[in-house]
Amino acid sequence: MQAWLLPEIGAIDHLRWDSIETRHPGEGNVTLDVLFAALNPADRYLAEGLYPARPSFPHVLGRDAVGIVSQVGKGAGDWKLGDKALLLRGEAGVSQLGTLAQQVTVPAECLERIPAGWTDPQAACAALVYVTAYQALTQFDSPRNSVVLISGASGGVGVAATQLASAMGQTVIGLSRSAEKAAKLLGLGATWTLNPEDPQWPKTLKQLLQSRRVDLIVDNIGGALLPKMIDTLGMNGCVSLVGMLAGPVPQFNTASLFFRRLLMRGVAVSTYSLEENREAWQQVVSMLGQINQRPVIDSVFPFQQVPAAFARLAEGPMGKVLVEVADSQLRSV
Ligand SMILES: NC(=O)c1ccc[n+]([C@@H]2O[C@H](COP(=O)([O-])OP(=O)(O)OC[C@H]3O[C@@H](n4cnc5c(N)ncnc54)[C@H](OP(=O)(O)O)[C@@H]3O)[C@@H](O)[C@H]2O)c1
Repeated sequence: MQAWLLPEIGAIDHLRWDSIETRHPGEGNVTLDVLFAALNPADRYLAEGLYPARPSFPHVLGRDAVGIVSQVGKGAGDWKLGDKALLLRGEAGVSQLGTLAQQVTVPAECLERIPAGWTDPQAACAALVYVTAYQALTQFDSPRNSVVLISGASGGVGVAATQLASAMGQTVIGLSRSAEKAAKLLGLGATWTLNPEDPQWPKTLKQLLQSRRVDLIVDNIGGALLPKMIDTLGMNGCVSLVGMLAGPVPQFNTASLFFRRLLMRGVAVSTYSLEENREAWQQVVSMLGQINQRPVIDSVFPFQQVPAAFARLAEGPMGKVLVEVADSQLRSV
């Protein structure tokens, strides 16, 4: 089969289009013919050696996908040939070969059926970012009508957090550097959007909130923005630390946490057990149904154009960047 191979730790532009041996599923495993795969910043982090995973090489990146079951190992539950499935969680694209390939072999317990009414691309891009956003929004048991401030709100996790927080009845403030993307966020449930590059944004936020303060931050960015976001929190405010696309925080004064008794906690989607992941996923699908929304797709690239797809991800997408694998599969026969 054809796959994008990472020959060694180095850089995302070292990926090579090549053929590898097709794997047969062992006990409890299922092989999918991949239809669509989705990209995540963690793919690049792994390629650059910045992610705590040491797969064997050549490695195949890619954690999200929708595919058709093409082989079923013994004891693989109810899955049968021809079923369509999405990859909910697991080691694919981390320690095991991932989804930027014509086939991926995974434990059957990592698969889920496609939610009713969702398209294949919507189902292929959602699992990782929506379950991450769910963990970020629920880990402090924030009550309904909390004020939630989301950085990187236009990205995969940010859009998911915006939609889910809105479905939970929260007041949502999305930060985006792009006016065009900010306008789209308003249509997805953000109450207000602000530009984090405008030095006046904290003042504007204060005016909008009047006597209220931010209760929960979902931070995808880190860097110099994080301390500014922390300043907007009220008493007992909380921070869910998801990512650090802008790099480490240059200066952080721990005293900024003292007087408001602020809480900070990391988010790590991989720490959810299979049951927690499944429960979170069911909640995600149900909440999106309640607000009549679906995962948001920025762009879909042909399988041969994976490098261009990663370039698009690095630019800052509006939602998710996907790769259509199956179409290319047909063309390459
Ligand atoms: N902890 C976990 O379990 C977990 C799980 C999934 C993802 N993550 C991490 O969470 C972060 C976000 O992931 P994602 O999939 O949402 O990323 P993404 O789709 O690439 O989007 C991030 C958004 O952040 C903004 N942005 C990017 N670089 C920025 C910078 N230097 N300064 C300010 N804003 C910037 C952009 O929005 P604008 O252009 O609109 O400003 C972009 O659309 C990543 O670091 C990822 O690795 C963590």
